[in-house]
Amino acid sequence: MRVQVAIIGAGPSGLLLGALLHKAGVDAVIVEQRSADYVLGRIRAGVLEKVTVDLLQEAGVADRLLAEGLVHDGIELSFGGARHRIDFEALTGKHVTVYGQTEVTRDLMHAREAACLQTIYEAADVAPHGFDGTHPTVTYRKDGVAHTIACDFIAGCDGYHGISRASVPPASLKTYERIYPFGWLGVLSDTPPVSPELIYSNHERGFALCSMRSMTRSRYYVQCSLDDKVEAWSDDAFWDELRRRLDRAAAETLVTGPSIEKSIAPLGSFVAEPMRFGRLLLAGDAAHRVPPTGAKGLNLATADVGYLARALAEHYAERSDAGLDTYSQRCLRRIWRAERFSWWFTGLMHRFPETGEFGRKMQAAELDYLVNSTAASTALAENYVGLPLEG
Ligand code: APR
Ligand code: PHB
Repeated sequence: MRVQVAIIGAGPSGLLLGALLHKAGVDAVIVEQRSADYVLGRIRAGVLEKVTVDLLQEAGVADRLLAEGLVHDGIELSFGGARHRIDFEALTGKHVTVYGQTEVTRDLMHAREAACLQTIYEAADVAPHGFDGTHPTVTYRKDGVAHTIACDFIAGCDGYHGISRASVPPASLKTYERIYPFGWLGVLSDTPPVSPELIYSNHERGFALCSMRSMTRSRYYVQCSLDDKVEAWSDDAFWDELRRRLDRAAAETLVTGPSIEKSIAPLGSFVAEPMRFGRLLLAGDAAHRVPPTGAKGLNLATADVGYLARALAEHYAERSDAGLDTYSQRCLRRIWRAERFSWWFTGLMHRFPETGEFGRKMQAAELDYLVNSTAASTALAENYVGLPLEG
């Protein structure tokens, strides 16, 4: 098989890249190690910046998102027993859209199927080769048969544990990492959200987040220990812990029900530099991760893909490599900004065992400053709603 672009990974990054390249008349194939159902079974975040909504619209896959997504003009910060609203619309004139990443993935998969674009699922031993030269290939096995895809470029959209970054010689790559000493225990339930907007709660028992997927489906998280086992958390224990970390009004309003998904996710910050190695380009979680507090993971991934799709379209339509040459640098500026915001917001909202009472006082003082200073709330709002794509 020969294509212009071979994409490794059918998560949101790979699927969106495939859709944008198709619109630009660039032909691509996606190779994914899991099944489509497995990919759709992963529950991830659900807050979309304007950049993400715009790119999905450009890709022609935003109809359901625009019809069903919930427009949120602000968030609430809960601390010291009370809630304080950060009004995005008043501070920045912008909003975010709440729509699950799983639904984004589903919409992209359906559009791909409808356009008869090829995705090879359940591909084993996927590997990129020859990206230092001019004739890269991607090899894989399917049902025991070995295959080779010849291509011009390889897009590594295969997430944090993927093979793309792992195939780069270590000397060509610099990585930066921070692992947090706690995780998030998340529950999805078919219950109405406790409040119309997201609540981020700083509590002495640990962080909690009230989010949602729709007006009938809620997503909640509590900070937990890395030693916690999900099996040891009954639904009742989860609801009790969540209630304890909310203000009284929210605790009394909370509607509980059986969990339909429950999982523990570790929190980490990670960046790999650069993101281009000859004809291999990394995008999304393959190149970076953020702790979920700032809701930046998916939005950073789609921004990478926006730059990459433009750069590849330019390469073919205008015979210009300007976009490819600046790809890494453009993405990384945005990535480090989001890393900083996610690190700061994580530090502000969680219980850090090692910082003790002094650390808690610093958090309280900063939260007080944040909700009483227009400059500070504007900075939070601007970072949360996200920046436009430059250039
Ligand atoms: N070969 C082929 N596919 C692979 C390989 C491999 N060796 N390794 C991983 N994959 C696939 C995974 O199965 C997954 O479907 O690559 C895909 C990567 O998807 P994600 O991990 O979702 O990463 P990405 O598409 O960059 O999504 C961005 O935003 O909210 C965040 O972390 C969240 O997943 C989210 C991310
Ligand atoms: C979610 O809805 O899953 C969610 C929302 C906001 C976050 C993280 C996760 O910051």
